Amino acid sequence: MEEVRVEYSKRHLEAAKECLASSRISFDREEMDFSLNRSYYAILQALRAVTLLDRFDSNRHKAVISYFNRYYVGTNIFPSGTSRLIDSAFKLKSCADYEDFYLADRKDAQQQITDAEGIISMIEPYLAKRWAEITKEEALPMSAIFTRTSTRQFEPRPVESKYIIKILRAAMAAPSAVNQQPWEFYVTEDPDIISRLSQVSPYSRPAANAPVVIVPCWHTDNLNAPQMVQIDMALATQNILLEAEELGLGAVMLGIAPIEELMNAVAEILKLPENFKAFTIIPVGWPVNKRPQEDRYEPSRIHTL
Ligand SMILES: Cc1cc2nc3c(=O)[nH]c(=O)nc-3n(C[C@H](O)[C@H](O)[C@H](O)COP(=O)(O)O)c2cc1C
Repeated sequence: MEEVRVEYSKRHLEAAKECLASSRISFDREEMDFSLNRSYYAILQALRAVTLLDRFDSNRHKAVISYFNRYYVGTNIFPSGTSRLIDSAFKLKSCADYEDFYLADRKDAQQQITDAEGIISMIEPYLAKRWAEITKEEALPMSAIFTRTSTRQFEPRPVESKYIIKILRAAMAAPSAVNQQPWEFYVTEDPDIISRLSQVSPYSRPAANAPVVIVPCWHTDNLNAPQMVQIDMALATQNILLEAEELGLGAVMLGIAPIEELMNAVAEILKLPENFKAFTIIPVGWPVNKRPQEDRYEPSRIHTL
């Protein structure tokens, strides 16, 4: 993925230079409209070479420009005057392309070639540095966030308690509203309890073949932010899933709360006191097989203002 990201960025920089070359040719042929169009694209391709490194790309020119302005000019990576040059190129290109009787000015076309040259030579050393950094990062191991997948098939061998303790230490490291830490963790290796937990819902069956099951619960005593309690529990649950992955174990979250009927069924199996509520069921074990995580990164879900 990283390799592809750098590769695409390099291609866009190359495309920027090609557009610039063709802008110069059109200028020499006195084709000012076309020259303006090409030098604008030279600028746009150079911007895309940068934004792609953040995995941001769009068919909408305005979206690329506003992303670049916000994250690269607004943060002083590139000088503030850059936005003005981009804006002017966008306007001139729009006139040259869409206004029927627009006569492109020779001076404007010459100026825009100079601007595109300036932007490309400003961006190029920055890109070279980022490409090197990204290629170096690629050599580092992936974090559990990018390798975790839900595991529903487990090997029939136990998980030593030292692993469970690490997992629960990770759970309790989670953030919680006003630091209320509402969690209580039930851990069981009892085949009868595990079998009953696996029958709580049609979706809880993956628990059946797990050597150990963790049931994160919360208490209802003296909570300062009771309305936030399930958010706290979800964050602790994510830490459990990530730490299990980090240790080479597999796990899956089986949803229980906020469905009262399921919460009551789990409470009955675990004999929870009245003030304890079941949040989820998490089977943990050594995975039978590991699959790669699907890449769910979707730039269109990022809305830049
Ligand atoms: C709130 C919640 C409830 C879930 N409940 C179940 C469940 O009851 N049974 C199950 O097999 N997986 C359950 N999952 C796991 C999802 O199916 C799984 O995370 C999703 O398909 C994405 O796959 P991945 O975890 O491998 O990335 C649940 C996940 C969440 C976040």
